[in-house]
Amino acid sequence: MNAFIPTPGDRFTFGLWTVGWQARDPFGDATRPPLDPVETVHRLAELGAYGVTFHDDDLLAVEPDRERAIAAFRKALDETGMKVPMATTNLFTHPVFRDGAFTSNDRDVRRHAIRKVMRNLDLAASLGARTYVCWGGREGAESDAAKDVRSALARYKEALDLLSQYVLEQGYEIRFAIEPKPNEPRGDILLPTIGHALAFINELEHPEMVGLNPEVGHEQMAGLNFVHGVAQALWHGKLFHIDLNGQHGPKYDQDLVFGHGDVQSAFFLVDLLEHGGYDGPRHFDYKPPRTEDPEDVWVSAAANMRTYLILREKARAFRADPEVQEALRASRVDELAVPTLAPGETLAGLAADQFDPDAAARRGYHYSHLSQLALEHLLGVRDREGR
Ligand code: GCO
Ligand code: MN
Ligand code: MN
Repeated sequence: MNAFIPTPGDRFTFGLWTVGWQARDPFGDATRPPLDPVETVHRLAELGAYGVTFHDDDLLAVEPDRERAIAAFRKALDETGMKVPMATTNLFTHPVFRDGAFTSNDRDVRRHAIRKVMRNLDLAASLGARTYVCWGGREGAESDAAKDVRSALARYKEALDLLSQYVLEQGYEIRFAIEPKPNEPRGDILLPTIGHALAFINELEHPEMVGLNPEVGHEQMAGLNFVHGVAQALWHGKLFHIDLNGQHGPKYDQDLVFGHGDVQSAFFLVDLLEHGGYDGPRHFDYKPPRTEDPEDVWVSAAANMRTYLILREKARAFRADPEVQEALRASRVDELAVPTLAPGETLAGLAADQFDPDAAARRGYHYSHLSQLALEHLLGVRDREGR
């Protein structure tokens, strides 16, 4: 059986900058030539993707004239039926952004950054995008003397408030999604984790218009549990979008193919996305490794989707396995959904409860068995009936 063929119904999307990465790094030159966005749209469509996403500047990879580049991109979308669910702004490559964009100490730069976003919002809306990602890669500092963080956050809020106002005035159906990252390229980036970003959103003029675009590797760079972070974002109603990729723990941002890092975390992430109420695109933000040639790029792109589909199948089999269901009950995983106070019960009732902590302390939770069942599903040693 080979059920792992992606189709547009799976809603897989890729950034133009992912397959288009020329593999320049701090130590070495590009190993691949520029990729025409038109070719990207066609190749990804052939592989079964649903859509593409882009930074304003990605469209100019091979055609410097903006109008011509946009026309060619639109034509490729029309020919393939590919969608553009999300767009974003490059506020990090040009040297003008070396101290940040919305939070640069230089006020003129901040004004330029907001204009750059407004211009691309117009294009994003005209292409049907519903999510606009804000990754603040240069918003940060290397020295604590260099940045007044409280003022920086005030300016960050000001920028998002102005951009929300712009979207409302234009009547666009667009929501913003902040993408946290702890560091790289800055020594320390503002809004470094899902938690920081969630707290920040509460201070905005239009918190309902702003959510998150968490990326697997970014939380893992900070040693955090990505599955827990995504679950919390879902709980707050803030998982507007997601960047899937792979990472091997706290080190530089690897942007590996999805699943080519912490595969157990990838399994539980797919389980959560498939069974936790997320209905947005499955967006891959990875970099084909620098070792790869232009044809390998498409092999790596396909690998992201195939891995997701394999993990989706495994997550379904895990949930359907009667032994897993029994183990979940034995571990009282379902009991956590039961409110701690009974309906109508008062605090006095709780206070009067008879309870033997020593007896309760003898009850184990049997998580080893449950975890092993998950691992065995992942390793493929249990069939769909769970034997
Ligand atoms: C990274 C980031 C970027 C952003 C993208 C959107 O790997 O540091 O994920 O890839 O997601 O540039 O602005
Ligand atoms: Mn990344
Ligand atoms: Mn990303």
